[in-house]
Amino acid sequence: MKPIIAIDGPAASGKGTMARMLAEHFHFAYLDSGSLYRAFACIELVLSDKPNVLFDDKTVKAKPINVHLSDLCEDYDFLRILSDILKETEAKKRKIDFSSYITHKDFFSEDVSGAHEFISIAKKIPDNILKSEIVGMGASTIGKLPEVRALLTSLMREFANSPGDDYLGTVIDGRDIGTVVFPNATCKIFLTADLKVRAERRFKDAKDFGDTSATFESIYETLRSRDERDASRSIAPMTYDETYIVVDTSNINIQEVFNKLVSIIDLRLHNA
Ligand code: DC
Repeated sequence: MKPIIAIDGPAASGKGTMARMLAEHFHFAYLDSGSLYRAFACIELVLSDKPNVLFDDKTVKAKPINVHLSDLCEDYDFLRILSDILKETEAKKRKIDFSSYITHKDFFSEDVSGAHEFISIAKKIPDNILKSEIVGMGASTIGKLPEVRALLTSLMREFANSPGDDYLGTVIDGRDIGTVVFPNATCKIFLTADLKVRAERRFKDAKDFGDTSATFESIYETLRSRDERDASRSIAPMTYDETYIVVDTSNINIQEVFNKLVSIIDLRLHNA
């Protein structure tokens, strides 16, 4: 298998930006695992009769997104089928193995693998929806389901197994990449930053996306409760151990973090 760089950490710690820059620098493919969880949340949000059930945190006001499925994604059937499976699985007390569905020939043309197909679907969802905090909260909620984690974990492994001939390896960011998805990753990094700094970053993103309803306070509270949920869930909680390099990005700029990580990864790749 080609080398894997795992980057974990809380929301808005800068891991997406860093993962993208590192992928480009090392000629690796980049996989944003959060966007897969977010795509799943969109499926539920749009297709569920009661979208508010996704947002079960008392401190966060549920605000269903007023969009139609056709606005979200062209692959209506795919989304509908996945959503049905999710519901069926819950109804059957979560005993279905999702991975047997994802590679089912009805879902994908034979020359396309499940991982790349699902990722391309996630990419079709507009960023202002996919990256919104409400969908982030939905992703965090849905991330507690063992079947969803099993499915997305198997997709990520499939992706890293064959990231494409042009790529020398894969950079993946998320919450459990180095602990659960790729415990033997070539290099594991945990990026973090003060909650206030992270909320300021997300507030700026929200304004850039044209979300005028977001306030700093609401974003701060959403991030706080999302971190708490991601770190306390029973399966694959966000955490790190002694195999990680921990970097706090609160007071250092992007270029400094990047330079530091490049030298660490260079060393690891050299010794791998
Ligand atoms: O990285 P992000 O903010 O886009 O992730 C959104 C949510 O998805 C996050 O709060 C929890 C969930 N997630 C997860 O449970 N495991 C991952 N590897 C990535 C994301």
